Amino acid sequence: MTTQSNLKFNFQNKNVVVTGGARGIGLQLTRQFLEAGANVAVWEYSTESIETAKSELAAFGSRVHFQQVDVSKFESTEKAAQSLPFAAHILINNAGITRDKSFGKMTHEDFEAVIDTNLTGVFNCTKSLMPKFADTPDKRIISISSVVALYGNFGQTNYVAAKAGVIGMTKTWARELSRKGFTVNAVAPGFTMTPMVEAMPAEARKTIEEKIPAGRFGKPSDIANACMFLASEEASYISGTVISVDGALVV
Ligand SMILES: NC(=O)c1ccc[n+]([C@@H]2O[C@H](COP(=O)([O-])OP(=O)(O)OC[C@H]3O[C@@H](n4cnc5c(N)ncnc54)[C@H](O)[C@@H]3O)[C@@H](O)[C@H]2O)c1
Repeated sequence: MTTQSNLKFNFQNKNVVVTGGARGIGLQLTRQFLEAGANVAVWEYSTESIETAKSELAAFGSRVHFQQVDVSKFESTEKAAQSLPFAAHILINNAGITRDKSFGKMTHEDFEAVIDTNLTGVFNCTKSLMPKFADTPDKRIISISSVVALYGNFGQTNYVAAKAGVIGMTKTWARELSRKGFTVNAVAPGFTMTPMVEAMPAEARKTIEEKIPAGRFGKPSDIANACMFLASEEASYISGTVISVDGALVV
C-alpha cells in the first residue's frame, strides 16, 4: 500500500531559534521558516546584520524576533533564553566563524576563538534553551557542522576540531534526548556561497569550485532545505545522523 507524500513544509505554530540567523545560511533559514509559517527568534551577534535582516524581513512583523546574543558566552545565551518570547520546538545551531591559518602559524588565540564560537557556542545555546523547549514530543536540535569535519582541511585545525566536535555532541544528544521527545541531527554543508565564502580569494574559490562534482557552490537554500526536512514531522525517525549537502564533494 502506498500513501501520499506531503512534503510541502508547514511550520505554522512552530517556534524556531536560529543562531547566527541574520546573515548567510542563517538568514536563509530564518526566511524559509518564516515563509513556512513559523515564529522565529534570531540569536545574532552582529548589530549591523540584525539591522539589515530586520528591514529585509519586515513583512513578517512580530513573527520574527531579534535578540543580540554572543553564543560563545554562556551568560549571553542564558539571558537570551530567559527573554525568549515563546516555548521553542526547533533549535538550529548555525552561528559560526573561521580563523584559518596553517597549523604552524595558528595561535592558541586563533584556536580558542573558533572553538568558543563553533563548539562551545553549540553547547551554550542548547544548554540554555533546554528548559525553554515546549513540552511536546516533536522537538528538534539541528546543528550546522561542515564537510571538512569528515575529511580535514588545510589551514583549519581549529574549525575542523570544532565541527567534528559538533558531530560528536549530536550523536551523544541523540542517545540522551530521544526519550525526551527530541531528534538531534547535524547538517554538513560543502562550500556554500555566503559572505564567509565570498571573503575567500577568487583564485582559491575557483580551485575549490573545480573540485565539486556538482560543478557549483551550494546555495544557502540547499542547506536550509535539508534543515527544514530534518525539522519536519516527516523526519521524526531520523536522529543522530549527519546529512552532507555538498554536491558530492565528499563521497
Ligand atoms: N558557507 C560555507 O561554505 C559553509 C560550509 C560549511 C559550514 N558552514 C557553516 O554554516 C554556518 C553559517 O555559515 P555562513 O557561511 O552563513 O557564515 P556567515 O559568516 O555568513 O554567517 C554567520 C553568522 O553567524 C553570526 N555569528 C558569528 N559569531 C557569532 C556569535 N559568537 N554569536 C552569535 N552569532 C554569531 C555572524 O554574525 C553571522 O551572522 C556556520 O556554522 C559555518 O561554519 C558554512
